[in-house]
Amino acid sequence: MNAATGELYRQHVIPNYNRYPVCIERGEGSRVWDDEGREYLDFFPGWGCAIVGHCPPRVVAAVREQVGKLIHVPNSWHTEAQGRLAKALTDRTGWGGQAFFCNSGAEAVEAAIKLARLWGQASGRYRVVSMLNSFHGRTLGALSATGQPKYHQGVIPLLPGFSYAEFGDLEDADRLVGNETCAVILETIQGEGGINIPPPGYLEGLRELTSRKGCLLILDEVQSGMGRVGNWYAHQLWNVQPDIITLAKAVASGIPCGGIIATPEVASFLKPGTHASTYGGNPVSSVAALATIATIEEDGLLERARALEAKFKARFEALATRCPWIKEVRARGVMIGIELAVDGTPVVRKCLEKGLLINCTQQTVIRLLPAMNLSDADFDAGCAILEESIASLVG
Ligand SMILES: Cc1ncc(COP(=O)(O)O)c(C=O)c1O
Repeated sequence: MNAATGELYRQHVIPNYNRYPVCIERGEGSRVWDDEGREYLDFFPGWGCAIVGHCPPRVVAAVREQVGKLIHVPNSWHTEAQGRLAKALTDRTGWGGQAFFCNSGAEAVEAAIKLARLWGQASGRYRVVSMLNSFHGRTLGALSATGQPKYHQGVIPLLPGFSYAEFGDLEDADRLVGNETCAVILETIQGEGGINIPPPGYLEGLRELTSRKGCLLILDEVQSGMGRVGNWYAHQLWNVQPDIITLAKAVASGIPCGGIIATPEVASFLKPGTHASTYGGNPVSSVAALATIATIEEDGLLERARALEAKFKARFEALATRCPWIKEVRARGVMIGIELAVDGTPVVRKCLEKGLLINCTQQTVIRLLPAMNLSDADFDAGCAILEESIASLVG
């Protein structure tokens, strides 16, 4: 990395991230280049934001055109782009709904929690049940829903009214949901928690439980949504209709864009004055999101994500027969976790040395969120590096 850039960070940027000593300058598809011209294959593009690769041409063209016309107007006005995006996202749920827009995943979760409390206010329902091992973001409301004590350290007290159930355990949720509960919130597939896929019947059971007990079901699709799992939204893999979903990350290919979709009945509680976001649904992010959706649709990428799921599973399950320290390979579309019985962080370093960007979460789970349009050649090249790095871990 250019020493001057390192120095700028050292002096002027708050050091709240563990950053690799690499300065990324350019990206295209599943590749990025650093400031020394070194090329990397990216199996974790933009932490899940670059779902159709870096700088996807339709998105670049749409943003270029939009910034020359109108960059921003606040939500005291209408824009055609925001209206079209709301229609595009809600048309794809299969159950309709109405959208509110913000800029990030944490903000989407905040909006969902506020909406649930507004909905429950008249009946005295304000408590929220979320899941252990979950991740919903770093703002205080989203953090209160995040069921991992390590993220709460030093910033307590959090919001009152939150309790945490074991992910996958219906009885535990049943025990915690009471007549003051306004919502159960969970990631449809836990991402940061290790790519944890709900066991059969669990989401359907939670839907039945929340309906029976009179509270809302909120599914956080910030990481699992936007086609990543081979369906537009991950809850479409199961037979459930939530009351609210949250979205962010991939929605606009990395231009900040988040939002919620709620059923019209629930959405009606978000009245003027109850919630807002200055940048939310901005025309630049809206056209970027529409171009992302067009790319996924026109290039047949939902099917491609399903094909990549099968390829990744086959490849790493085969490796597991040679490497018994691979405990499990979990994948839905291009949301992939390879759980190891040993520390996985050296794998990230080894891959970086060999020019492949990946992630390790919860210390032992190699997490991959590759672009839905990853080519067969890039799949093979990246998997070869990852295989070699995992295989060299033990012995
Ligand atoms: C499921 C989920 N929800 C919320 C968030 C928070 O998103 P953001 O970092 O955009 O605030 C994340 C981020 O990783 C996430 O994975």
